[in-house]
Amino acid sequence: MNALNLTTVDISTDRKRLVILDQTLLPNEIKYLELDDRESIYEAIKKLRVRGAPAIGVAAAYGIYVLARKFDGDDKDGFAEFFRREKGYLNSSRPTAVNLSWALRRMEAVMDDNLQSMTIPELKDRLGKEADDIRDEDIRLSRSIGEHGLSLLHHGDGILTHCNAGSLATAKYGTALAPVYIALEHGWNDLHVYCDETRPLLQGARLSAFEMQTAGVDTTLLCDNMASITMKRGKINIVFVGADRVAANGDFANKIGTSGVAILARYYGIPFYCLAPSSTIDMSIRSGDDIPIEERAPEEVTEMWYKHRMAPEGVKVCNPAFDVTDHSLVTGIITEKGIAYPPFDRAFERMGIR
Ligand code: MRU
Repeated sequence: MNALNLTTVDISTDRKRLVILDQTLLPNEIKYLELDDRESIYEAIKKLRVRGAPAIGVAAAYGIYVLARKFDGDDKDGFAEFFRREKGYLNSSRPTAVNLSWALRRMEAVMDDNLQSMTIPELKDRLGKEADDIRDEDIRLSRSIGEHGLSLLHHGDGILTHCNAGSLATAKYGTALAPVYIALEHGWNDLHVYCDETRPLLQGARLSAFEMQTAGVDTTLLCDNMASITMKRGKINIVFVGADRVAANGDFANKIGTSGVAILARYYGIPFYCLAPSSTIDMSIRSGDDIPIEERAPEEVTEMWYKHRMAPEGVKVCNPAFDVTDHSLVTGIITEKGIAYPPFDRAFERMGIR
């Protein structure tokens, strides 16, 4: 079994339900959920059953398509109103990953462009095709990010990653872990991947370590506070992480703890790269100060995963799900269009990212 062959997000064969691999159960159980109502699609995104910025985008695209299909009748204004209401609802499920609103806006643009010229059944089919395109593109872009990332690697390298920006976080291949998958395709068997556990939701332990180990990669799991000693011991040659939203100046939000890894990498002189599709770059946001940061429930820190509560009752808990890494700590940002180096705003412009 290789986790790369698990489908993260899909549409059912009758095209009536969003199909997701429930990532909250990994690595112990592989279970698919078929969802066709607004509350369960919202809940699946909110509870991280489907997670990772690009995968959230694909799930939202299929989600809004599944909901749009439920509209009865041929009233076009009514359809548009229904679509926008469902779009707003899904869009409110998580605030930080820009791919969610990006995918929903792209679906809405398809509706707006075709509302007058198509019948409602034709329009529904057209929305389904757009969702398929978003998924297929994500697979292509992830592969391309992987090729660019591989150009920075050397045989025997140790790569540190934080959270999960692997195949499970996208339609396939991932972003930060894509170079490792492409390396395997080229017959490289000598890379070492170090996965930060990633408190509190353990995406590094449950998902990245699972992906890398099942792909046959030499994999080491470390608690988040062990990154420094691992770097000091000379085990890490390069850091690859994903992003939930990149601002025009290259500041980027990613899973909580990423900015600490970037600070450590700078201290130890280790190159630090962010890998993300251009759909994760939000040129409407000048700097990371403008990125909304999701705050999550205190129980994720005090109780989840433990048999017994591991903190005194009533203690105050801080649980931001993401932090922002300052662009000054970033060696480069690897997109499907190539590798951007500072100053990032100009590099993005040259790449045609607007
Ligand atoms: O809360 P999550 O698990 O959705 O957070 C995921 C991350 O932070 C990923 O690194 C990011 O979305 C990039 S996925 C290619």
